[in-house]
Amino acid sequence: MKLEEKRFEELTKPEVSRFIEKNINKSIPDLILKGSPFQHIDIKDIVNQIIGKKKAKKKLPHWYKNEKVVYPPMLNLEQTSSEITALHKSKLVSGQNLLDMTGGFGIDSYYFSKKVNTLIYTELNPELCKIVKHNIKVFKVDNFEITNEDSIDLLQKNSQVYNWIYIDPSRRNENTKVFQLKDSLPNIIDHLKVIEEKSEKLMLKTSPMYDLDMGYKELIGVKEVHIISVKNEVKELLWIIDWRKQNSKIIKIFNYQTKKKYSYISIDKNKIELDGIELSVCCKYLYEFDSGIMKSGINDMIGIRYNLKKLEQHTNLYTSDKRILSIPGKIYKVKTIESINYKKIRKVIKGNQVNLISKNFQLNTDELQKKLKCTIGGKSDYLIFAKTIEGNRVIEATRLMS
Ligand SMILES: C[S@@+](CC[C@H](N)C(=O)[O-])C[C@H]1O[C@@H](n2cnc3c(N)ncnc32)[C@H](O)[C@@H]1O
Repeated sequence: MKLEEKRFEELTKPEVSRFIEKNINKSIPDLILKGSPFQHIDIKDIVNQIIGKKKAKKKLPHWYKNEKVVYPPMLNLEQTSSEITALHKSKLVSGQNLLDMTGGFGIDSYYFSKKVNTLIYTELNPELCKIVKHNIKVFKVDNFEITNEDSIDLLQKNSQVYNWIYIDPSRRNENTKVFQLKDSLPNIIDHLKVIEEKSEKLMLKTSPMYDLDMGYKELIGVKEVHIISVKNEVKELLWIIDWRKQNSKIIKIFNYQTKKKYSYISIDKNKIELDGIELSVCCKYLYEFDSGIMKSGINDMIGIRYNLKKLEQHTNLYTSDKRILSIPGKIYKVKTIESINYKKIRKVIKGNQVNLISKNFQLNTDELQKKLKCTIGGKSDYLIFAKTIEGNRVIEATRLMS
């Protein structure tokens, strides 16, 4: 048995799993000080398992439930996709083969492997390759090839054309966090030609901070973009590329609540009406769109579709006298609208919990909290500070749950 296999086997023995479970909430420095209770296992490996398991509980429940899983260092675990988003991506592929050029901890690869005949996992980091080799054995996956090499080299030296190539570039370069494609690893902008030659279709994951217009400029052959949020936080932008001559601007926006429950909107940005949205004073209801819609830049268009008006050109709050429950976002029922007098507001909210929103306003919510000396909290009471067409206003509102 190879050294690594032996190490992983020791680390996932039932008595070690029980120790990890028992100590999962203990202080890490204390555990390190006490040292390993097992003769052949380093305490650093045990601590790594504890940290990994904690991180996996929400992000990777399928991995969390299996006691034989070995976790990589935290940095690699942070870079990995969540099960929800990996599952989403896997539903988009099929065929003979898929090359994952940035294998990492293998979460995306694992879900892709269920949808294609052969999954080729490529990863520069040898330690990650060993961990993934162990874990896929645990999950009894048998169509998974592991290649420990630079995936750009692999493409350049082979003539094989894959049905799909998937790339989730590393957003850490020399220990700094980056989000532009040209700064990520591998730098796919420099290698688009060879990737095009070797793939029928490409799926590329980019950071939520990556600008959509920038993507349309530097990428070629875009069929559609998926904006994927989990519980209203944008997690990934997915670029589906079939190497067409001209980029299409179809954007699909998904907001997952659970693996199965999600909302969905699709829009063709090339067909958007150019009419501006009507501005208005604040009406009976206020609407704040989901973050995926804001990321897509189609918020005004959705507003027009629903017959809403906007509080001010650059204030992303929409209003109507009608209550529209189907709107993809949060709804507030307006109680009062007033010009801003901090002294008066402080008096009114004294002793009560309140939630703050700041939109196109000179103070952010932290600064507002300090100024108002208030406690943040409560389920539904909001003070919304915003620039409106009548000037700066504070809007007292109740959040309505759909
Ligand atoms: C963001 S992570 C991928 C996470 C993965 N999708 C998952 O679900 O676990 C990016 C990975 O790409 C690897 N990588 C970067 N450049 C590479 C290259 N040229 N060839 C192979 N792997 C590379 C990094 O070592 C890192 O583990």
